[in-house]
Amino acid sequence: MKRLLSSVIILGLLALAPGCNSKTRGNRGIPALGAAESDNPIAVIMNHYAARTFTNGAVTQTELDQILAAGAQAPSASNRQPWHFTVVQNQNLTNQMIPNINDGNILIIISAFDGQNNGQVILDCALATQSIYLAAQALGLGSRIYTGPINTINQRFKTDLGLPSGYSAVTLVRVGRLPPGIDAVSAASSRKPLDSIVTYK
Ligand SMILES: Cc1cc2nc3c(=O)[nH]c(=O)nc-3n(C[C@H](O)[C@H](O)[C@H](O)COP(=O)(O)O)c2cc1C
Repeated sequence: MKRLLSSVIILGLLALAPGCNSKTRGNRGIPALGAAESDNPIAVIMNHYAARTFTNGAVTQTELDQILAAGAQAPSASNRQPWHFTVVQNQNLTNQMIPNINDGNILIIISAFDGQNNGQVILDCALATQSIYLAAQALGLGSRIYTGPINTINQRFKTDLGLPSGYSAVTLVRVGRLPPGIDAVSAASSRKPLDSIVTYK
């Protein structure tokens, strides 16, 4: 039942995916998807971008619940689900990790137990990170993944953050409201063209 609910949430998020135009994809070096692009269920995957500018304003608990549910639904090796999500809303703390952060921005820290199979665990956490990042954007929020502050977090903030014993932070996702009129077409960096990274045999 829980799994079914999570699937419904994910499908709901995909249904909320914002529409876009073919210029977006041309700009990013990937082919257009064709007609009815806004109805395309992978639109949110094709049109994400790492927000550079946020505006002040709260992320609601309803939004947060959906974003966290999307993260929890990520696949993991042997379904171990090794992650823990720490939602940092206290601005005194968020500011120490990302200076001059906007009011209302939250940081979701993805951490995992420092155990064996570390390569797999990091990959699992990366997948949860991506789901959180995309879910926020599917809801019309801005999001950006960070690893820059991770060493500092692990060296100085584990106790303040209440990370579970034996866990270390792997990534964090910043989530917040976007200023009006953000142009996703020019906001996103370009990507390598498919023919330079794909081989068919
Ligand atoms: C694993 C990972 C770590 C990242 N760490 C940082 C970071 O520490 N600081 C930062 O400003 N952006 C960080 N980013 C964001 C990337 O720079 C951004 O996703 C990439 O440049 C693509 O930008 P675009 O989405 O605008 O095309 C990170 C992204 C990933 C996937």
